[in-house]
Amino acid sequence: MGIKETLLRHGFTFESETDTEVIPKLAKFVFDKANEEGDRTVTFSQVVLEVMRHLEGAYALIFKSQHYPNELIACKRGSPLLLGVKEFGEDIGNSSSFHDVKFQAKSEQPKEFFLSSDANALVEHTKKVLVVEDGEIVHVKDGAVSIFKFDNGKGKRSGGLARPASVQRALSILEMEVEQIHKGKYEHYMQKEIHEQPESLTTTMRGRLIRGGSCKAKTVLLGGLKDHLKTIRRSRRIIFIGCGTSYNAALAARPILEELSGIPVTMEIASDLLDRQGPIYREDTAVFVSQSGETADTLNALEYALENGALCVGITNTVGSAIARKTHCGVHINAGAEIGVASTKAYTSQIVVMAMLALAIGGDAVSSQARREAIIESLFELPRALKVKEVALMHSEGILAGEMKHGPLALVDENLPIFVIATHDACFSKQQSVIQQLHARKGRLIVMCSKGDAASVTVGGSCRVIEVPQVEDCLQPVINIVPLQLLAYHLTVLRGFNVDQPRNLAKSVTTE
Ligand code: AGP
Repeated sequence: MGIKETLLRHGFTFESETDTEVIPKLAKFVFDKANEEGDRTVTFSQVVLEVMRHLEGAYALIFKSQHYPNELIACKRGSPLLLGVKEFGEDIGNSSSFHDVKFQAKSEQPKEFFLSSDANALVEHTKKVLVVEDGEIVHVKDGAVSIFKFDNGKGKRSGGLARPASVQRALSILEMEVEQIHKGKYEHYMQKEIHEQPESLTTTMRGRLIRGGSCKAKTVLLGGLKDHLKTIRRSRRIIFIGCGTSYNAALAARPILEELSGIPVTMEIASDLLDRQGPIYREDTAVFVSQSGETADTLNALEYALENGALCVGITNTVGSAIARKTHCGVHINAGAEIGVASTKAYTSQIVVMAMLALAIGGDAVSSQARREAIIESLFELPRALKVKEVALMHSEGILAGEMKHGPLALVDENLPIFVIATHDACFSKQQSVIQQLHARKGRLIVMCSKGDAASVTVGGSCRVIEVPQVEDCLQPVINIVPLQLLAYHLTVLRGFNVDQPRNLAKSVTTE
């Protein structure tokens, strides 16, 4: 019998269909039962531990009760939860590196505590945070905080409620500045984040690209991976796993990874992998790409890959996130806080990190040395090439050139605006012939091409052309995405929609 049915049988009534409503009612049931059985000393944390013992799935919860005034309990499983600790008079303006400090919550110093699922909400109050782990409960009582560990009922006393074990935890210092969460001179976060890309990419690459001396080769250094590169190179396949924009970033990086590693690279949308229970083996390297590092589907796919013995690599933007903690190794993209729900600067930083990953896996093979060096040189140039100016265009659905003739061509007529990406690469002649076919069907074309190519893409009819700087082919998506980001931004603003928080969407999707 489910929890709700049990509660209904005991006379509880419900006003909604939500699981959330079941939780406080279960807490009341546990409290009443302990009292009926004569346990008048039942503590708040014992009640919450008993509730947790019955819950399945992911949650992050905060409990308050009239029976326990001046107390608050927070706990989580699967979903993110951070405790911020601000000491009275603390100055949060100074930058700090990410390190642990001793947690002395019970000292005499007055404190303020903050609970949030996201560091962005905490940073303007404090940089000192405790990343709450699954099964832990945070107990705030009379101005002091204690952390207890939930042992899944193993230590349960017969006939009573479990006594939680107290644990020692260290606080971390957030590596963020308050300015990152302010819009500054921009009207919207998305606009700010699009324009920040030259700087965010510079930060992503900082200390990781080495130009070499006169006789030294150019190379890449990814500290978080160096002990695992040999294992990755021996993998039977590399699987990229992610959702939404993170999945698309991996899609854009796949060709260079295949080319430089020589290892088959497959792509998995996290939820689809789980629905199919797709095969994953010990000989696989599974790369989890996630801006937030907390997406439930990606996190569940990570648990699945770990169970199947694969080497798990994380590519995230959030230090201390669940994916960063649970993977064997990884790379932080260091793009800075991304507040707009639509991912922009994290997307470009993810591609750059994956290009660096390809370079690192490719190692020092002589056959590809010239190619690797050209990519590294192009990476150095990338932030400069990114200063593409604003354009107001129209939205389009992404279709590969080779797929047009398999269906989408039927949709083309004089009413259909089409944005063609025809920058110079190995598929350029294919794109030229698609442009001609679209012209022939009177499609309303806007063509993005490499600087100097305008004449060769307008053959067969007139169209609007956007020229963008040409870089190494594998990095071209980082350039090409910018006019499209601006297109999405301006269209949304013109239509009067909320550009930073599109309806029905959350920045970090922590439910399945
Ligand atoms: C799109 O811009 C969204 N932010 C969404 O598709 C997002 O990429 C997806 O939910 C995955 O999020 P993550 O990168 O934080 O894992």
